[in-house]
Amino acid sequence: MNEKKRMSTSLIYFFGALGGLLFGYDTGVISGAILFIQKQLHLGSWEQGWVVSAVLIGAVLGSATIGPASDKFGRRKLLMLSSIIFVIGAIGSGLAHNFELLVISRIVLGIAVGGASALIPTYLSELAPAEKRGGIGTMFQLMIMSGILLAYISNYVLSDFDLGWRFMLGLAAVPAAIMFFGGVALPESPRYLVRQGDDQEALAVLKQLQSNDQQAQAELDDIKLQASMKSAGFKELFGVMSRPVLIMAMGLAIFQQVMGANTVLYYAPTIFTDVGFGVSAALMAHIGIGIFNVIVTWVAMKVMDKIDRKKMLIAGAWGMGITLMVMSIAMKFSGHSHVASYIAAFALTIYIAFFSATWGPVMWVMIGESFPLNIRGLGNSFGSVVNWTANTIVSLTFPPLLNAFGTGSLFIGYAVLSFVAIWFVRKYTIETRNQSLEQIEASLRSRAHAKGWTED
Ligand code: BGC
Repeated sequence: MNEKKRMSTSLIYFFGALGGLLFGYDTGVISGAILFIQKQLHLGSWEQGWVVSAVLIGAVLGSATIGPASDKFGRRKLLMLSSIIFVIGAIGSGLAHNFELLVISRIVLGIAVGGASALIPTYLSELAPAEKRGGIGTMFQLMIMSGILLAYISNYVLSDFDLGWRFMLGLAAVPAAIMFFGGVALPESPRYLVRQGDDQEALAVLKQLQSNDQQAQAELDDIKLQASMKSAGFKELFGVMSRPVLIMAMGLAIFQQVMGANTVLYYAPTIFTDVGFGVSAALMAHIGIGIFNVIVTWVAMKVMDKIDRKKMLIAGAWGMGITLMVMSIAMKFSGHSHVASYIAAFALTIYIAFFSATWGPVMWVMIGESFPLNIRGLGNSFGSVVNWTANTIVSLTFPPLLNAFGTGSLFIGYAVLSFVAIWFVRKYTIETRNQSLEQIEASLRSRAHAKGWTED
């Protein structure tokens, strides 16, 4: 047995999901840091916009390139590469002495964030036994939420120092380095190993992850069946067989963003001050929301394999839609009534809790597990690109829309989209809970076969 086989399963999942922490931290930290960067680097509003959205642009690039490469070079190697990019981006952002260097470093960071989002859901889903896959996949979201919380805390703690922003941005290099060293000991995905013809190593990894050797052997046999399908690329991704999954992934990735969760996460302090809270109360409330979200995501991780994914998405979209409506109505009266302000703040908290428990994790879990093995890295990557593009559009349009319509009316718009999401989930998604990746793939193939769709 070599060193990496001795790592405990919990540590494997922990290090496998750790990139989520950097995803959350690096996207969350900028809201606080920008206040200081803007003064010290003398940035105008256009330049500030670039500093904030550079990570999003990098993430689109990273998910487009790093995910597909993992079908070829393996999930683990690419995870380690992402961790190196994280370190470079974090140190570069912390040391940047002008606008250009800062934007370039933030784009580099974004490449790693995008890479992590295109790799980790697939990597975790390929390691996890079917009956635990949802919970294990949710660890990614738990890490994202923990990263966001750490970012809020560091924003708060470091805001008293002039150079605090350099630490806020640079400190992310520490977990990134830990992720790299964790990666050295991580096993490669057994599915990838089988595709490479390394059945022995795949069996060894499966034995480590499954509760008994017989189960590991049975899983290996199943994987071998799917792995014999020839390698595929965009043709298969956009082909008839994968189409249901492709539509599902695109829809989930878009709706996860257009229901507005990030606007609330990033702009919550503004929203709180808008409804009448003082600035420091608003910042504390933001940290409170961060803690609450971590707890809610942890609960979601525990129930993820007990409740159908579709049911979770539908319940989540109802919850988000209704709380957005309540928020919107309460905000209209918040100028005149304290009670209305509190109702708005309370509805906001419940809204984001619904997201954290459902659409946040379930979208990533489903795009990581639904594509056939021969295009899984590519498919996950495609879903991530769509998600980051939607994220960029929502984030960039939020401030002008807010100016034009005000929070009240804008949130009605997001609520309507939440209700449309319910229709989409009912009509276009496939239930994947409790099925092995190979069962999911087999039913896709037999469905295509039954409809007379041929693979070319
Ligand atoms: C979403 C991100 C979001 C994060 C935290 C993820 O699932 O994809 O856009 O920032 O959750 O809420």
